[in-house]
Amino acid sequence: MNKKEYQFDYEVYESIDDLTEEDKWLLDEAREVTQHAYAPYSRFQVGAVAKLNNGEIIAGSNQENASFPAGLCAERVVLASVSSLYPKVPIETIAISYFNNNGESNHPISPCGICRQALQEFREKTKQPIRLVLGGMHGKVYIIPDAAMLLPLSFTSSDLQ
Ligand code: THU
Repeated sequence: MNKKEYQFDYEVYESIDDLTEEDKWLLDEAREVTQHAYAPYSRFQVGAVAKLNNGEIIAGSNQENASFPAGLCAERVVLASVSSLYPKVPIETIAISYFNNNGESNHPISPCGICRQALQEFREKTKQPIRLVLGGMHGKVYIIPDAAMLLPLSFTSSDLQ
């Protein structure tokens, strides 16, 4: 028997003020984009803004549905938009924020399990890590250098070979 260990490094900042100008701008955009969410059921509005290798900025927000499972997270909305508008262009960074109508928005949230899977596949397709900048409307900010780190032992296309 072999015991294995998995760990990853990420950065924790006290507030948006400690970020570089570019990351600050991107996270601010993600905060604004939460206002475009369609979240009448959860009232939890998520915004995701991607900066692509070609400099383009693409935004997404969560889009819910009366048939609950038909709803989409902001992360998968943004990934689908990027793939549709600029196929094969890698994503450098995605900033993700949220506005919680039911409570505080004072800590970072990180992508749900399905979105981690989608981020992993996008990374595999474009062969470039996707950096995440995660923060609420205020409070600490996390920077995760490669979103795929959030999904160890992931199921990938190579498993289908
Ligand atoms: N949601 C996202 O858009 N991204 C996440 O990372 C977590 C959850 C959405 C899905 C649903 O519309 C609402 O937030 C509450 O779960």
